[in-house]
Amino acid sequence: MDVYEAVTRRRSIRRFKDTPVDYAILERCVNAARLAPTAINSQLCEYIIVDDEHMLSKVLDAVVMWAGVPRPEDGWSTERRPKAYIITLINTGLAAELGAGRENTNYDAALAVENTVMVAQEQGLGSCVLTGINRKKLRRALNIPDRYEIAILLALGFPDESPVVEVATGSVERWVDDKGALHVPKRRLEDVLHRNRFSE
Ligand SMILES: Cc1cc2nc3c(=O)[nH]c(=O)nc-3n(C[C@H](O)[C@H](O)[C@H](O)COP(=O)(O)O)c2cc1C
Repeated sequence: MDVYEAVTRRRSIRRFKDTPVDYAILERCVNAARLAPTAINSQLCEYIIVDDEHMLSKVLDAVVMWAGVPRPEDGWSTERRPKAYIITLINTGLAAELGAGRENTNYDAALAVENTVMVAQEQGLGSCVLTGINRKKLRRALNIPDRYEIAILLALGFPDESPVVEVATGSVERWVDDKGALHVPKRRLEDVLHRNRFSE
């Protein structure tokens, strides 16, 4: 799969097969994250891979928002839950040491996570970026020191759903059809692209 195809085909996946994910694949994802562009090459991001059964449910407990709605208390069947997570952290202590401002750290984290997402996809995994999370809970569960900011939680596993991308006609509200498939409306290219100067 070439990059364009991979990028355009990717959809956020929130339901996963009951198949464990090889740690080596997760490590490969983090290696790709590590090599992402960073402002002034500061490399402030660090990562936690979670793939232990007990820890997986602790992390899930910290997930608040799920496809735009609060995650139901009972969640979904255990089998379809994420099989791994990668948590991207920002080392604010190192930022202070380097005299690096904080204005770029979210960009750094986002670019690192996108690398992770694409490598995961190459390996057949689906993923979902999650920021609707209870950071306090996650910090406690994973013993993350205060000098680290929790940027993004990425849920991973082999996909057990096929969300449908469609052209947004007015609303970008996602919806679920009677077969349970999530539909994701996207704004058209001509609605988001300007050439040479901004045109209304
Ligand atoms: C910064 C960011 C935060 C997100 N947070 C959540 C979240 O908390 N819960 C969730 O279910 N999806 C979350 N998502 C995934 C989006 O809902 C998803 O990207 C969007 O619906 C478009 O679908 P697509 O990724 O399949 O194109 C997040 C995505 C981004 C980029």
